[in-house]
Amino acid sequence: MFKHSFIEKRGVVLASLILVTVSIGGLVEIVPLFTIESTIEPVRGVRPYSPLELMGRNIYIREGCYVCHSQMIRPFRDEVERYGPYSLAVESIYDHPFQWGSKRTGPDLARVGGKYSNEWHVAHLVDPQSVVPESVMPKYPFLLENELEAEDIRAHLEVLRTLGVPYTDDMIAKAEEDLRAQADPEADHEELLQRYPKAMVGDLDGQPERLTEMDALVAYLQILGRMIDFADIDPKDVLQ
Ligand code: HEC
Repeated sequence: MFKHSFIEKRGVVLASLILVTVSIGGLVEIVPLFTIESTIEPVRGVRPYSPLELMGRNIYIREGCYVCHSQMIRPFRDEVERYGPYSLAVESIYDHPFQWGSKRTGPDLARVGGKYSNEWHVAHLVDPQSVVPESVMPKYPFLLENELEAEDIRAHLEVLRTLGVPYTDDMIAKAEEDLRAQADPEADHEELLQRYPKAMVGDLDGQPERLTEMDALVAYLQILGRMIDFADIDPKDVLQ
């Protein structure tokens, strides 16, 4: 008791002892992190976005879709039952910036890929109330009109590579080609699908002749949550 009051009456002694105690806690938590390469466990299937998906993601950010939609399914039963397997850190490893969020005026979109057809997405984005009458989502009909402007797509991939996204020289060299091919129903998609497995290819916006902002946004929405195959996941087998 005596020692306690001795410490409490001397500010400098108290502050120094608090510092020592807090540092021990800090060291125990922080030091182990320096001995491992990454805190994010790799999972098979996660790949960088294709050029068209990447442009779609830029439009998603430009239009502020994240203001109403999160992309992070939390590990709670109600969320998992509604949206599917909870989000893993690795699923947003190539997102700069990530789109997690906590504001949900609309549903979470982390696993919306494959839930609807391309036609549904186009109809919904042009006029959400035409498919969901009570929707408060704004209309985005201009996406169908606007030509996709992506002259700097190569530079875009190069910059992301400096941030750690593993775009290969081949992916960068073929960026313009892949951008056009993904939304062109006539193109040969074999190589593109080798570079970007599971990418949604073909006519995405219902206008096969044109490459619009709608093509890009639909390509992006359709890959969300589909890179990892959760259906046949063997927990021992997931890690690379
Ligand atoms: C003002 C808020 C708001 C904004 C901004 C908004 N949404 Fe929505 N969104 C909603 C609401 C509410 C719903 C649920 C009703 C519906 O399906 O329209 C929804 C539904 C959706 C769905 C269907 C999800 C599902 O699982 O059924 C998609 C896909 C979607 N939005 C994409 C977008 C995209 C892409 C943008 C940006 C271009 C966007 N939203 C902007 C509010 C918004």
